Amino acid sequence: MLQIEQLTKKFGPNTAVDSATIEVNEPAMIGIIGRSGAGKSTLLRMMNRLSDATSGKIIFEGRDITSLKGGEKRRWQSECAMIFQQFNLVPRMDVVSNVLHGTLNRRSTFSTMFNLFPSEDIHRAIDILDRLGIAAHGPKRAEALSGGQQQRVAIARALMQDPRIILADEPIASLDPMNAQVVMQSLRSIHEEDGRMVVANLHTLDTARRYCDRVIGMRDGRIVFDGTPEQLTTGVARDIYGADDSFNEAYTSTEIQTLTRVPA
Ligand SMILES: Nc1ncnc2c1ncn2[C@@H]1O[C@H](COP(=O)(O)OP(=O)(O)OP(=O)(O)O)[C@@H](O)[C@H]1O
Ligand SMILES: [Mg+2]
Repeated sequence: MLQIEQLTKKFGPNTAVDSATIEVNEPAMIGIIGRSGAGKSTLLRMMNRLSDATSGKIIFEGRDITSLKGGEKRRWQSECAMIFQQFNLVPRMDVVSNVLHGTLNRRSTFSTMFNLFPSEDIHRAIDILDRLGIAAHGPKRAEALSGGQQQRVAIARALMQDPRIILADEPIASLDPMNAQVVMQSLRSIHEEDGRMVVANLHTLDTARRYCDRVIGMRDGRIVFDGTPEQLTTGVARDIYGADDSFNEAYTSTEIQTLTRVPA
C-alpha cells in the first residue's frame, strides 16, 4: 500500500532523515517514537509533501508521491491530512467553519471568498463533530474550547477531506492526560471504523503501545526499530531514546496513575 524507500532529508550538512525505509501493507495505525530531533516531524512532512525529500521515494498504491507537482500534489495533500500539536485552527472563527475549511482545496476561490459552503458540507461537518462528541460546540469560537476539544475539531477538519491517511505530529503533546486519551481514542476509532491509515508521532511510549498496531523508533534520522507494541520492550525503548540504565519509562508516560507515581 505504502512504500517509503531510502527516504533522506538533509539540511545543509545535517541529515534529519537518513535512508528511512518503511513498508506498510494494510491501513495500520502506526506510532513513531524517538527523542527530540530524531527526525519524526521531518519524515511526516515529507510524506505529506510539505517538505521535499533530498533523495529516496514514497510510493502510495503504485503512485510516486515524491514526484507529484501542482494539482496532483495538492490532491495528494488532501488524501493525507495532517494534524499538529498546536491544532492550527482559526481561533476567532466558529467551530463548524473551522471544520468546513477542510473542504477548501476542492472549492472555488469565489465561494471561498464569500464563505459560501454547500448545505451538504455543513451537514457533513456537523455529523463529523457529532461523531467526535463535540457537535454541541459547533457555534462557538474555536478559542473558547479546551485543548482536547480543539484537537478534535482539527481531526474533524481533517476528516472533511475524507483522507486515506491521517498524519498526526505530536497530536497530544499539549494536552493533559485525560484529553490525550480522548484524542487518541478518536484517532483509533477513525482507524478501526473507517479503515484509514494513521501515522502519529508520539512522545510517550505507553500511548504508542496502547493505541498503535505498529511502532517505529527513530534515532538520529535512522529507523532503529520497527515492530509490534509487544516487541517494544524497555530495553529496546532505552536504545531508541539513547538512554542509560537510569531511563524510566514513566517519564514518557501519559498515564494518570503513572504520573502520580513519578516523583516531582
Ligand atoms: N527547516 C529546517 N532547517 C534546518 N534543520 C532542520 C529543519 N527542520 C528540522 N531540522 C533539523 O532536523 C533534525 C530533525 O528534526 P525534526 O523536527 O524532524 O525532529 P523531531 O523528531 O520531530 O523532534 P521533536 O520531538 O523535537 O519534534 C533536527 O536536527 C532539526 O534541527
Ligand atoms: Mg517533531
